[in-house]
Amino acid sequence: MGGQLTMAKVVITGKIPQVAVERLRAEHDVTSWDADVVIERAELLSRVKGADAVLSLLTEKVDGELLEAAGPQLKVVSNVAVGYNNIDVKACTERGIKVTNTPGVLTEATADIAMALILAATRRLAEGERVIRSQTPWQWGMFYMLGMGIQGRQLGIVGMGQIGIATAKRARAFGMTIAYTKRSPLDAATNAELEATHMDLDQLLATSDVVSLHCPYSPETHHLINAERLSKMRKNAYLVNTARGPVVDEAALVDALKGGVIAGAGLDVFEHEPKVHEGLLGLDNAVLIPHLGSATVETRTAMANLAATNALAFLAGQTPPNPVN
Ligand code: GLV
Repeated sequence: MGGQLTMAKVVITGKIPQVAVERLRAEHDVTSWDADVVIERAELLSRVKGADAVLSLLTEKVDGELLEAAGPQLKVVSNVAVGYNNIDVKACTERGIKVTNTPGVLTEATADIAMALILAATRRLAEGERVIRSQTPWQWGMFYMLGMGIQGRQLGIVGMGQIGIATAKRARAFGMTIAYTKRSPLDAATNAELEATHMDLDQLLATSDVVSLHCPYSPETHHLINAERLSKMRKNAYLVNTARGPVVDEAALVDALKGGVIAGAGLDVFEHEPKVHEGLLGLDNAVLIPHLGSATVETRTAMANLAATNALAFLAGQTPPNPVN
């Protein structure tokens, strides 16, 4: 528990919706970063000095160095994201710092993007757009730019949490069947609703027409999808990633897409964001979008508000709604 702090110093490390800044400002001394660009590391380290609470974005690494720079009074790190791989949770826990995240509020938006990428990759939407925009001559034709229909195809969901389930529901409406990996099987009601089959990863990769990644990124899931696993997928299969880039070995994916090991990919996240592997850029069978999973006005507002709620609750001596540690 945080213990009551009357006027705490709150440092927000990136630009977030003003409504959340104002809620924090009503109770605390708030320093916000109002530029549209990601804060430079040196500036970040100097700004967090003396902070009781830090609201961080996924673009900021909250590691031992930052905790040191902040000082021993730091009590809570509230991440404005559901994924918290940017935070060294162990280092926070060792220092008695509470970490929180924003689950739930971005589930639907992210599942929408996963479904959009499934459709875009299988129906060649980005490739088609490039044909039009480059004024390449084209004609309707029986055999022109055919894709894969998803009806009756199996969607394999790696990591069946809230976003995985929401993606499965959408895919079911498009006529797909659902397979999934998860430590323990879904509860009976959700399983009955989705008619989903629990599988191990190898079986899921070998039997799915589309594989969609929804697991958190951690040392255990680093390069979970590597050359060997890609080779287990079907030649006509597609890989979709809306989770975190480093879950996939991007260089191995480039080779698999070039070599026809799999048919295509839809990527919202990249191994070394904002850098994208050069090999992906020239590939027509890869749909590439810049980490837009939660990028709606409504969702970003809800994320910022939830992060503010978590910080405010902890600073008021209450249990925050979304503790990570
Ligand atoms: C976005 O990527 C998030 O983890 O919230």
